[in-house]
Amino acid sequence: MKTINNGELREKDVNKTLTLYGWVNKRRDMGGVIFVDLRDRSGICQVVFNRSYLKSDFKLAEELKNEYCIKVTGKLNKRTPSMINPNIATGMVELMCENIEILSKSEVVPFNIYDDKEINENVGLKYRYLDLRREKLQQTIKTRHLITSKVREFLNKEDFLEIETPILCKSTPEGARDYIVPSRVNKGKFYALPQSPQIFKQLLMIGGFEKYYQIARCFRDEDLRADRQPEFTQIDLEMSFASQEDVITLVEKMIKYVVKSVKNIELDEFPRITYKEAMERFGSDKPDTRFAMELNDLTEILKGTKMNVFSSAIENGGIVKCLIVKNNADKYSRSDVEHLTDFVKVYKAKGLAWLKYDNDAFTGVIAKNLEEEKLGAMKDKYNITNNDLILIVADKPKIVYDSLGALRLKIANDLQLIPSDKLNFLWVVDFPMFEYSETEGRYKAMHHPFTMPNNLNLLKTDKEKVLSLAYDIVLNGYELGGGSVRIHDSEMQKVVFDALQLSDEDIKNRFGFFIEAFKYGAPPHAGLAIGLERFTMLLSNTDNIKDVIAFPKTQSASDIMSEAPSIVSNNQLDELGITVVKEESDE
Ligand code: AMO
Repeated sequence: MKTINNGELREKDVNKTLTLYGWVNKRRDMGGVIFVDLRDRSGICQVVFNRSYLKSDFKLAEELKNEYCIKVTGKLNKRTPSMINPNIATGMVELMCENIEILSKSEVVPFNIYDDKEINENVGLKYRYLDLRREKLQQTIKTRHLITSKVREFLNKEDFLEIETPILCKSTPEGARDYIVPSRVNKGKFYALPQSPQIFKQLLMIGGFEKYYQIARCFRDEDLRADRQPEFTQIDLEMSFASQEDVITLVEKMIKYVVKSVKNIELDEFPRITYKEAMERFGSDKPDTRFAMELNDLTEILKGTKMNVFSSAIENGGIVKCLIVKNNADKYSRSDVEHLTDFVKVYKAKGLAWLKYDNDAFTGVIAKNLEEEKLGAMKDKYNITNNDLILIVADKPKIVYDSLGALRLKIANDLQLIPSDKLNFLWVVDFPMFEYSETEGRYKAMHHPFTMPNNLNLLKTDKEKVLSLAYDIVLNGYELGGGSVRIHDSEMQKVVFDALQLSDEDIKNRFGFFIEAFKYGAPPHAGLAIGLERFTMLLSNTDNIKDVIAFPKTQSASDIMSEAPSIVSNNQLDELGITVVKEESDE
């Protein structure tokens, strides 16, 4: 068995006879003496093949190429001063090889393993096992392991039990499309892969386990983004007899423990803001607070202006907000601002009004049309100074928040206003219970339908005002995790289902067994789940979720390497009782 980590050899090991295993990272033939950087997962150690030391045939050393997998035995020497390499941890030593065994040869690899040059993503995914050998993925996968092991250590100490829940199950209500799996023994019936262990972890509370956690695989058939994969992992937990405060306190302590272990950073107490405040100040329920440039309200100031775009938006129940890009107006030409206008249109904004302030005066088209006193009020209220650019959207609140929230991030990225070394955690609390789905024409649960509302009386009269005991943990503009206090009373659950316009039939089919369970002394309980990949990404300074998953999927949810998903044989389909309807384009 391999017992030595090549990257950990130091001067204290000099004169020991050692057996090293690994891959040829690079090889240099100096005519008669061959140097090999022998790489394993801990790093690199230089191995010297010198005819005068080597007992094996020197031809074997001459044959070596990059990525050959070898075993070498020899004595560790201190390098002569001129050969010391200060750039690697083992730079003081080298192994003088006496015996070499080639364990496995390698063809020429499609990209270099030894450097961190960007490679074509599809080539990297096709040869993922080779990309995994490279430094970047070695590091992120190790960080991921460290996070899960620290989470386990922490939660075990806090008296949690790690319990697995089914992968083949019934649909869970997290709002995405399910992946479904046909059942052979129950023809025509399907399992759903869990979008999260939500229902099971609540049942575990009813089952009396009190404190549960799981590093849980989840599956969601949804549009993929840089921070989303169809299968991902949650650090999932649930606690009985616990309040929102209890969950927040515990999770905050856990995150601090992990961050201290992984990054050696001591975090201060995480700030908390309400959903309402997050939307009003940042236009997002997952605000990036590493930089300021908050949204400023102009609704009061612009009420009654003769400029119709603003006054009519306000009269129709809309709002007017702006971003003030401080001291950077000179970086934005007219056509740059037009590009920003196109950018906000993606978020359904009808346009982007703009002003510049320079030489102690406002400029721009609307500077001519907007009343002097309105301009003055804006300048005074928001301390507008020379070289400021003001970008304004007037519309329904959702459109204003979405467009300016996204624009805030874009501008901060473009102007490099975001310090990359900060970890800004915060809790967002008091989420609305419901959100209106334009596409479905009904209210949907903003978190999930098992979340405890804070005020049942408003349920019938004003759904939009009902808040819930739901909370999100946010890091650097990413939703890292979310959770809630759950409803533990079947009567209350029924009221919420009614509010969601779920029919009795629907409730019975989808969650009948779950509702039944609440009739038998369900304890009050609450929980939360953190996205493990997002957590690992942010602690690894990458913004690509694929970098923290050993075998990720592409944008089209496929695996280029194994070519999944793939066609199955007719026999398999027959066994399952499934007929595939071919689209014309498949012919
Ligand atoms: P939620 O749906 O908010 O809550 O998910 C929790 C966290 O999981 C991560 N996440 C994802 N990560 C990668 N790819 C995805 N497709 C993806 N979807 C979600 C995010 C998110 O914050 N059962 C509830 C939790 C609870 O109430 O206890 C749940 O799943 O980081």
